[in-house]
Amino acid sequence: MKIILAYSGGLDTTVSIRWLKEKYQADVITVTVDVGQVDDFKKLEERAYSAGASKHYMIDAKEEFVKGFVTYDIIMNGLYEDVYPLSTALARPLIAEKIVEVAKKEGTEFVAHGSTSKGNDQVRFDLAVMSKMPNAKIIAPARIWGMTRQDEVKFAEERGIQIKLESSKYSIDENLWGRSIEGDVISDPSVEVPEDAFELTKRTSDKSRMVIEFDKGIPVSINGKDLDLVTLIKEVNRIAGSTGFGRVDHIENRVVGFKSREVYEVPAALVLIAAHKDLEKMIYTPLEFRFKKYVDSQWSDLVYQGLWYEPLRETLQSTGEGMNKWIMGKVEVEVQGDGMRIIGRESINSPYSDKVASYNKGWYPSDEMARGFIEMWGMHSLLARKVRSDAL
Ligand code: ARG
Repeated sequence: MKIILAYSGGLDTTVSIRWLKEKYQADVITVTVDVGQVDDFKKLEERAYSAGASKHYMIDAKEEFVKGFVTYDIIMNGLYEDVYPLSTALARPLIAEKIVEVAKKEGTEFVAHGSTSKGNDQVRFDLAVMSKMPNAKIIAPARIWGMTRQDEVKFAEERGIQIKLESSKYSIDENLWGRSIEGDVISDPSVEVPEDAFELTKRTSDKSRMVIEFDKGIPVSINGKDLDLVTLIKEVNRIAGSTGFGRVDHIENRVVGFKSREVYEVPAALVLIAAHKDLEKMIYTPLEFRFKKYVDSQWSDLVYQGLWYEPLRETLQSTGEGMNKWIMGKVEVEVQGDGMRIIGRESINSPYSDKVASYNKGWYPSDEMARGFIEMWGMHSLLARKVRSDAL
């Protein structure tokens, strides 16, 4: 029996290797998908073998992650509950797809992942696997074994399995689009998140400015330098993160029915989405703008909830993509410590007219025009009010 395990290198999945091997007498084949997490993949491979893996696959999916997932998070202003740029949620369907590919190649139906029964990730993994391989047999060791994190550390120590040191404290999930931090003292929502939980953002009072250029809703250059999206995201993470910007700390409503305190480091995601949204507002009609906001929030909910394969997600996304063909221009952003603001924006596709909007020059509606407009604009409300007060 062969089991294909999605292997992150963290505590849960490292312990899973040995646990699966012992419990099912199986060959455990580990698959690590590179979605832009910073890691020592050589060490990670060694760790997999030390835990008992019989074969290890390393798959570079950074381009695919950016093209097929992150790009749409920008186009759809994807923020769950207005703050979380869905970094973990977006990578799960891709990781699941890669595991299924390996399972088919290795000729097995058994796939495994390290998610627990308390999280959203199990929902995303399971549903993604089910949609790509309906006959798959999914095993989630952490849903079965009933070990706490301390038990897991003990399990590993007893068997001489290498584990990542910091992995025994926080539960981290990282990719190019962001870093999720859970566990340890963070699970008490009244306690300030310790500085040692953060890696991409350093507390400073520095300021930084950048001009981001968009083409069809996708960022293409920073400060006049054309960059591919992977490099551009890293660059924005570096610039914004070095000022301390990019931390999120909120109470999140999980798919599984309870609240959790979630902490993220997502400098580039927050900057790029805010700049993109600002540019959309510069370009769309008010009707389009309000409609798009609705479409975006529906899309974000589906992605968060593990419904990447829900047909409506594709419909919403192609609507957003279609509307983004007009989203060209530049946005200047200032980031500083905990905040960011938009300094300026410009677009050839914007209906904005300085001549129309300015108080200093150009066109003014006549007094007669203004009076006529106001009278008719308010007529519905004024008439209804009158009828009702007469009736009383
Ligand atoms: N709450 C976030 C989400 O549902 C982050 C999950 C992080 N996963 C982890 N293994 N630490 O997307």
